[in-house]
Amino acid sequence: MYNVNDLKEFGYLKIDIDPKIDLPLEIRKMCKEKNAVILAHYYQIDEIQDIADFIGDSLALSQQAAKTNADIILFAGVHFMAETAKIISPEKKVLLPDLKAGCSLAESCKAEDFKKFKKENPDCIVVSYVNTSAEIKALTDIVCTSSNALQIIECLPPKKKIIFGPDKNLGNYIKNLTNREMLIWDGACHVHEEFSVEKILELKKKYSEAKIIAHPECKKPVLIISDFIGSTAALLKFVEKDKSNTYIVATESGILHQMKKVCKEKLFIPAPPIDSTCGCNNCNFMKMNTLEKIYIALKYEMPEIIIDENIRLMAEKPIKKMIDISEKFGL
Ligand code: 13P
Ligand code: SF4
Repeated sequence: MYNVNDLKEFGYLKIDIDPKIDLPLEIRKMCKEKNAVILAHYYQIDEIQDIADFIGDSLALSQQAAKTNADIILFAGVHFMAETAKIISPEKKVLLPDLKAGCSLAESCKAEDFKKFKKENPDCIVVSYVNTSAEIKALTDIVCTSSNALQIIECLPPKKKIIFGPDKNLGNYIKNLTNREMLIWDGACHVHEEFSVEKILELKKKYSEAKIIAHPECKKPVLIISDFIGSTAALLKFVEKDKSNTYIVATESGILHQMKKVCKEKLFIPAPPIDSTCGCNNCNFMKMNTLEKIYIALKYEMPEIIIDENIRLMAEKPIKKMIDISEKFGL
């Protein structure tokens, strides 16, 4: 006879939940009983953002994972984010509601290929975006996120060549700002690459007063026409302080939930993707998490993130460096 634990090796649990259950209430109850904390990325569905203990961008979430006193971290995000939490908080149980919640950008950078790239370009400092596997972080000198990439690159010895991976759009954006010699990996996010400059400009004709705001993972033409470029958290902060009333938002649609919460009177229009039938401004990986999966993950304390200890130790150093530098900059 199988039992529920046998499903663990398949990375998911398929369990019927009583439809009468009040999921948010039961989830919060379990968090209290188990001393668990829910860390959610801004790209999660609205219902998850509403029950989270903490909502943030990838930098804020890693900082939170490093300092929480909880015994369990339920990571409502994608695999590399939960893995980062486990790397810096190894004594905690880190749960990811669906182990298949990956990231096309992280996937575009395989450890074997990255090792080769490093070997072909010795004497470089290796900076990796947090959207990478633990194996890539283990090959990295310092990790960055879109919130701190600029400050991290500026901290590096001025004459040193830099390998930057895997996001070419963020890499080129920072290269342009800093004039640093950077060898950039050819990776991109399938959500942020999809925004259509033509359709954004078309929208701008209709909403001439709107400001275009974009995540640096967007393609260069989208960044060129943007009024403000920043990480998810920076975009949120910007709309809160800025005086305009309408924004065309070129990043994953989940952030609009918080934007509408903090600026109830303002209008936020999701930037249109090239193919409007694809729903491409939704990250299909981020949207794999549901309240049902969170309930099951907390109840059975799985699926759990497990990392080889040698890899973890090597990956921990560049993440800690990032956290230390961010603190110095007040990020
Ligand atoms: P942030 O660093 O803004 O959270 O972005 C993470 C991400 O996955 C963007 O696609
Ligand atoms: Fe990865 Fe793009 Fe999804 Fe962010 S939005 S998690 S970069 S696939």
